[in-house]
Amino acid sequence: DTVLVLNGPNLNLLGKRQPEIYGRETLADVEALCRETAAGLGLAVDFRQSNAEHVLIDAIHEYRVGSAGIVINAGAYTHTSVAILDALNTCEVPVIECHISNVHRREAFRHHSYISLAATAVLAGFGTHGYALAIRHLAHLRAGRPA
Ligand code: DQA
Repeated sequence: DTVLVLNGPNLNLLGKRQPEIYGRETLADVEALCRETAAGLGLAVDFRQSNAEHVLIDAIHEYRVGSAGIVINAGAYTHTSVAILDALNTCEVPVIECHISNVHRREAFRHHSYISLAATAVLAGFGTHGYALAIRHLAHLRAGRPA
């Protein structure tokens, strides 16, 4: 069973990008955390990042049915993309929206999320640990579902 962990624009620069907000850990560190967390729960991870909206949408299409779920940090597309919302609305698997920062204590334009309209659950402000929490929750949901 595989979890898709999908990262949107500018997250390739994690660790270098506004470290006072997003911390010093890199996306490779987040990937290692996700793999370790998932392995402990008997899940595999497909970890991806793209700055391109259509690449994120194509990844959602790949995992929308039959996977253990999707963890998505859509970056700024969270606040702009009806197309990503539409893709997530096709998903038959749980979708966890994850933000490293607490978007609710930041600029007003970050308070609205299109993604939340399709999300099973939302995490914000847990730092990179949020990804591990999201994977744990997908494993929890998986355990409650018939195979
Ligand atoms: C983010 C928050 C977004 O508002 C921002 O555009 C990002 C990262 C986060 O992880 O805190 O790129 O999703």
